[in-house]
Order: sequence, then structure tokens, then C-alpha cells
Amino acid sequence: MSTSFLPLNESLYRYLVDQSSEGRDPLLTQLRRETGTLGDVAEMAISPDQCAFLSFITSLIGAQYAVEVGTFTGSSSISIARGLIPGGRLVCFDQDFRYTSIARRYWFNAGLQNKIELRLGNAHQLVPRFRAAGPLDLVFIDADKEAYDFYYESLLPMVRVNGLIIFDNMLRGGKVVDPVGRTEPATRAVDELNRKLATDPRVQSVMVPIADGLHLCRKRERGY
Ligand code: DHB
Ligand code: MG
Repeated sequence: MSTSFLPLNESLYRYLVDQSSEGRDPLLTQLRRETGTLGDVAEMAISPDQCAFLSFITSLIGAQYAVEVGTFTGSSSISIARGLIPGGRLVCFDQDFRYTSIARRYWFNAGLQNKIELRLGNAHQLVPRFRAAGPLDLVFIDADKEAYDFYYESLLPMVRVNGLIIFDNMLRGGKVVDPVGRTEPATRAVDELNRKLATDPRVQSVMVPIADGLHLCRKRERGY
């Protein structure tokens, strides 16, 4: 079969992580190790290539004001906050005190505590009540999958033209194309959102196969 893509294996994956600026970042490596001691939930942390990618994208667009929904132990927030311009700000929504306590500790260790603000509580309630202090440059959504579309619709109006909304886990471990897996509620929600985003006139969208799949959306000019 002829393919126009290269399937990754462990050594290729290691190679691309190691050959990325933040791929071997000591603080993120230490955080990943500590998160690993929590057990199976550790898989919710974003991967080293995602960390490098988020920092890159955040810097690329000169982001000043960002929002994250789903913080867990902090690897994505650290990656985003590191990419912000000086004086930039990241608002994080998460309901878990224990996991975000780890995140807070690493924000401090990374010297990012003044750039990141945690809104601890249920994002279903907090996100629609959130009033951004200015236009958002970047939104990262990595929380409960069935509420992704709700977070998207709540936050898109606050995103500036050419700002980005990025979603994690948009391939659902391959289940989006699995006849049985697709019927699972979280996967169905993600699949429906992927299809919606691809044809949503308000955004330009691209899916990239980083880790469990990221879906990137750029907000278009008014009037499309
Ligand atoms: C799950 C959630 C995530 O955001 C992720 O990256 C991996 C797994 C989960 O809910 O299982
Ligand atoms: Mg995720």
C-alpha cells in the first residue's frame, strides 16, 4: 500500500522529541515523572512533543492572553505560559485540587506563577461565566470530551481574529474511525465536533496527528 504519511514507532517518536527545543526540558521531564506516580490518570498529561508544539505555536502567534480548560498537573499550562510574550497571561480552568496543586508547584518552580491564574471549580459553570479582560489569542481545550463543543461555543466569541482554539484527543486513540469505538459517548462527541469544525465557517481548521490528535482552529475574519 502506498501511503503519503510515515507511521511512527518508538524510536522515530523518541527522535522527534529529542530533536525539538523543549523535547528534553528538565522541568517538564521531572513533572512527567511525578505525574507518572499517580497511576493510569497520568495518560491525561500532554506528551513531550505536544509540549514543544504548544510552546512553539503560542510564541508563533505572539500570544499575550490565553485560556486553558483542563489543567491536570500542569504540562500544557507550563508550555503555553512559556510561549507567551512578556506580561502575558494564562487563565486555567480545572476542578481537581490535588492535581492542580502539583501544577501550582511546577508553575512556581518554572517562575511562571505570575503569568498563570487558576480558576478552580467546575468548568461547565465557570467557563460560560468567564468574561475575558480582552481578546483571547489562544485557547487550549483538554477536559471532559462531551463538553468540548460547549467550551468552544462559550469561548470562540472572546477569541480575536486569527486567534487559535486547539483541542486535544481528537483521534480518541483511533476510536473515531472504529465502528464500535465510535458509539462511545465521548468519542461520538469528539467525532461530531471534528466534523463540525471542518465545515464551520467561523474558523479554518486542521487536524494534526500529534499524540492523540490535535484539532487546530483559526478564527476567521468577521463575515468569513
Ligand atoms: C483522557 C483525557 C485526556 O485529555 C487525555 O489526553 C487522555 C485520556 C481520558 O479521559 O481518559
Ligand atoms: Mg488530553
